[in-house]
Amino acid sequence: MCGIFAYLNFNLSRERRYILEVLFNGLRRLEYRGYDSAGISIDSSSDAVVPPALVFRKEGNIESLVKSVYHEVAATDLNLEESFSVHAGIAHTRWATHGEPAPRNSHPQTSDSRNEFLVVHNGVITNYEVLKETLVRHGFTFESDTDTEVIPKLAKFVFDNANEEGDKSVTFSQVVLEVMRHLEGAYALIFKSTHYPNELIACKRGSPLLLGVKELTEEPIRASFNDTKFLLSNGQPKELFLSSDASALVEHTKKVLVIEDGEVVHIQDGGASIFKFENAKEKGCEKLKRPASVQRALSVLEMEVEQINKGKYEHYMQKEIHEQPESLTTTMRGRLIRGGSCKAKSVLLGGLKDHLRTIRRSRRIVFIGCGTSYNAALAARPILEELSGIPVTMEIASDLVDRQGPIYREDTTVFVSQSGETADTLQALEYALENGALCVGITNTVGSAIARHTHCGVHINAGCEIGVASTKAYTSQIVVMAILALAIGDDTISSQGRREAIIDNLFDLPNKVKEVLKLDEEMKDLAKLLIAEQSLLVFGRGYNYATALEGALKVKEVSLMHSEGILAGEMKHGPLALVDETLPIVVIATRDACFSKQQSVIQQLHARKGRLIVMCSKGDAASVSVGGSCRVVEVPVVEDCLQPVINIVPLQLLAYHLTVLRGYNVDQPRNLAKSVTTQ
Ligand code: F6R
Repeated sequence: MCGIFAYLNFNLSRERRYILEVLFNGLRRLEYRGYDSAGISIDSSSDAVVPPALVFRKEGNIESLVKSVYHEVAATDLNLEESFSVHAGIAHTRWATHGEPAPRNSHPQTSDSRNEFLVVHNGVITNYEVLKETLVRHGFTFESDTDTEVIPKLAKFVFDNANEEGDKSVTFSQVVLEVMRHLEGAYALIFKSTHYPNELIACKRGSPLLLGVKELTEEPIRASFNDTKFLLSNGQPKELFLSSDASALVEHTKKVLVIEDGEVVHIQDGGASIFKFENAKEKGCEKLKRPASVQRALSVLEMEVEQINKGKYEHYMQKEIHEQPESLTTTMRGRLIRGGSCKAKSVLLGGLKDHLRTIRRSRRIVFIGCGTSYNAALAARPILEELSGIPVTMEIASDLVDRQGPIYREDTTVFVSQSGETADTLQALEYALENGALCVGITNTVGSAIARHTHCGVHINAGCEIGVASTKAYTSQIVVMAILALAIGDDTISSQGRREAIIDNLFDLPNKVKEVLKLDEEMKDLAKLLIAEQSLLVFGRGYNYATALEGALKVKEVSLMHSEGILAGEMKHGPLALVDETLPIVVIATRDACFSKQQSVIQQLHARKGRLIVMCSKGDAASVSVGGSCRVVEVPVVEDCLQPVINIVPLQLLAYHLTVLRGYNVDQPRNLAKSVTTQ
């Protein structure tokens, strides 16, 4: 988790105030990745040959950092109007893994009191204890509890050693490549150093990192290469950005380079050289090697600035719930074929077309994901089993890896992940690749690690999701997996009618979601009623077992109310003991093959004086309300396998309103962060 950001202006006069604001805005965009502390580093002066670097770190959110920086600046003789024609600044927003949220544990972490080497880091260094012991033996003292602090200290150690051995020309990238040789774990890193003023180094293994390029010339940016450098019209004014994700870049530029694992990007003199870290285990390099450069191409972001603003909404979660009619439309665009007079309705998934035969022949389909993404796969499982006839099993990514569960060459494994960067899911992917399974990715993030490392896949195209609680990605994931089921079952004549009915319903799904969103006020009223409760149970089964799990997950993660999703078929095997007249229970009883069973669940709960809120299909209120004794939420009816897309919306709204009414920050739930890139 954590967000890292850097800004370098070249041959372009920028005032300190401007530089600070670019760094702060970058952090604001990345804040959803972690928000328990933050920090930045800027230069102290524009005219010193080696300007000492200033470091500001603060516990709390970005705004606490902003306030404290301006406060500190005002208390010193630092001039906000001082102009820099070139300046390299770095920034970090933290989700604590090692060490409590506190300034000393915030980033940038430093090599020494002179800040010779500074580092911002996203990820976890797993061998930091060994490195720390070695560095302590060499006289280094540590101030933080973080794993990160070993990195700048190691850089200083490498730099000092090279100099002692007479290698005065050691470059910044050579130092960093040598540091990487010692690091184990996952990381995206940005280095700043007083020994290399106006240069930055970025490198990564595991965690995501992008370089954004904005040239301020009349000429278009050329994405070609000249030996080791981008042809960035050298000497021309430009701005370069490094960021954990695209949301902090899109307001500046759409020209990006997705940095690959093992790459080191050296920004210097307005150009960017890229080196490949070759062999992590290579030992005994007495002299630092001059690395070989690699060529990479810039790509163009398909994101719009509006996507990352809240628009007319108060919160990102609220915006993302309400934009589901549009996000679903985008998800389905170009993928549903209406058919003609003698042509059947069908679906098209470009990213899978060459692999469908292999998938159809697989012995098993294994869905793998975490949290909401796992729930989405669970919602899609029944239709995939029905239309493909292939057994579908479910795996929580971390559990699969913990158990080293059996995965075979004959399996198709499907990795579901909004971010495409979740560490547990990535580790499971590595495991499935090692075991020779076909690996399919379903993600919302183009260029993400899961998109790149799977054999094939589908982008859900839900648009940027910023609210930490996943909402629109969930419904788009279900729809993509329903389309996947249609594509796999496409050659089965007996299910053609069923498939066509699902396709018809998919076309109309955005309208049905618009309709269910009209329950907003009703769910707010319900939230008012539940505001002081300690706990909420959600019962579902069949297609809507996933809805129960996901609804409960939404409620607990944002409103901090305990909530549990329960398979209604399991009610009598334990959970029934909890039922009394005070505990609120949501029962999902929309029309499908399980409807009559859910009616009997309602009766049994009612007989035990359960406090029920029943979600039913429009028109069914009378038949589920046990003589008007329970509260009913009516939702529009769609084909059973798509009903989870409709049914989750009132629960998303309930979670949202409960949180706001309880006074919590709905976009920044306690202790959580989006994109869990650490294990
Ligand atoms: C809950 C939520 C998480 C994520 C989980 C996996 O609202 O967002 O449970 O679903 O961390 O993340 P991705 O989908 O990015 O792999």
